[in-house]
Amino acid sequence: MPVSSGCDAEAVVDASEAAAWWKTAVVYQVYIRSFADSDGDGIGDVNGLRHRLTHLRDLGVDALWINPWYASPMADAGYDVADYRAIEPAYGDLDQAQALIREAHAHGLRVILDIVPNHTSSEHAWFTAALAGDEAARARYIFRPGRGPDGADPPNDWESTFGGPAWTRVPGPDGKPGDYYLHLFAPGQPDLDWGNPEVRDEFDDILRFWFDHDVDGFRIDVAHGLAKHPGLPDAGPRDADDPTRPHPAWDQDAVHEIYRRWRRIADSYTPPRVFVAEAWVPDNERLALYLRPDELHTAFQFDFLRSPFRADLIRDVVDNSLETAGKVGAVSTWVLSNHDVPRHLTRYARSQPDHLVEAHWDRARWPTEEADLVLGERRARAIALVSLALPGTAYIYQGEELGLPEVEDIVPEARQDPIWRQSGFSDPGRDGSRVPLPWEPTGPTYGFSPPDATAAPWLPQPPSWSRHAASEQAADPASTLNLYRAALRLRRDRLGGDDAITWLPTPDGVLAFRRGGVECWLNTGAADIALPTGEVLVASGPVRDGGALPPDTAAWIEVS
Ligand code: NOJ
Repeated sequence: MPVSSGCDAEAVVDASEAAAWWKTAVVYQVYIRSFADSDGDGIGDVNGLRHRLTHLRDLGVDALWINPWYASPMADAGYDVADYRAIEPAYGDLDQAQALIREAHAHGLRVILDIVPNHTSSEHAWFTAALAGDEAARARYIFRPGRGPDGADPPNDWESTFGGPAWTRVPGPDGKPGDYYLHLFAPGQPDLDWGNPEVRDEFDDILRFWFDHDVDGFRIDVAHGLAKHPGLPDAGPRDADDPTRPHPAWDQDAVHEIYRRWRRIADSYTPPRVFVAEAWVPDNERLALYLRPDELHTAFQFDFLRSPFRADLIRDVVDNSLETAGKVGAVSTWVLSNHDVPRHLTRYARSQPDHLVEAHWDRARWPTEEADLVLGERRARAIALVSLALPGTAYIYQGEELGLPEVEDIVPEARQDPIWRQSGFSDPGRDGSRVPLPWEPTGPTYGFSPPDATAAPWLPQPPSWSRHAASEQAADPASTLNLYRAALRLRRDRLGGDDAITWLPTPDGVLAFRRGGVECWLNTGAADIALPTGEVLVASGPVRDGGALPPDTAAWIEVS
């Protein structure tokens, strides 16, 4: 495909289509700490990822998104950045990062990094200077006096997303209790004041630093949090999802100007760089505001991962997502799992509610109902075929292609997620989706670390993971890995040409749509259903003789 400029109109169209690779991409999320450990310290790293890039190439994805890999004291697994231009030493160094980007590109894989603009680490040089009394540094954060006679009460009633108050008090210049600083997450993650031009300039520069290192884009952490309501009013009692009364910390309209500015920077590069927003907003109408043509390219639409395994709800989510993104000329994104939510295989392994649920699926209460992981796996394989058949961008969270379940029995002493502590030990947190990957069926770390490793994996791996190892899965034609490979190949070959879907009439509990010459059928009901005549291109489980699709199964059928 020609990408050079010139006066040939056709070549120009082709070039812009190539630049819009993200509209159809499948992006693989690399949780670097748990992907592959090259040096035996039990922690995944850049060289481990380089070594395993062929796994991603063979899987057939278009891009990888790497969770934060910057220098960090790890109060929140790297989402507390101490230096945005340095690689965390446990992960490697800048030369290795540069090599990774080069090698990924050589495999035809684009590289998206994770930028964390809402907060820094409390060990960032700005914050340590602020605590040491540097007024200019202090003005880059949100310090306020407490309320009440001696300031004993926090400045407002906001709560940390991880539990407890969103404010921590620090000593004043006289050593006595002084002002509070805001942290919407852990105390080790002080919020920046985006009203301060120095903050804006600094992030412009960070973006350019990595774009100059050839990264193709950024996933924006907490994209809905940067602008706070002026005056920081109390939130008051509220329904978190009430769009008519947004929380004063989140999704404020002032945030959009920041992204217009970022878009101009991204567009100043050749090829243009891209953004995907992590923005937890009340509905897709609010999300679409982030996707206006002069703002961000895409944003995660999380309703897919909030939906139970029920055809009617999945269909509503798809319709709403396509419609609202389409109104602003944006593409949809399909996300089933990530490092913040329980893995979908396990979500589907219990009874399914009849409504969308919170993203954490109330994991704290799960132990009261046993998980049927065989059922969960059947459903996870089926939903993969739905998400990969839809138009737009699809995300794969590392390990879902190996059929990994959530690890629900991590012993309390091994848990690392700040949610566990900040929730007063009531919410087990997100560690269960972050357990290091199994690459080989044997050995103490399933090949995650080299054989001479000096430390155990940073989170314990379950004893039953041999069958999920990448090498085992690669060798088994019926494995989940080979299902993903086949679906990705077919997506590229057969589904690229047509972005419209047409729903087909189906019985209750069944969802079916046509895209180009392919029909995607999903059976979430209790009985077999008849499939249309046509070649079964791929199916998530055995399709019975005579073209019957069993429960908890999906298939793609070639119909033209
Ligand atoms: C969203 C990230 O995905 C999550 O892991 C992190 O804890 C918060 N943002 C805070 O940065």
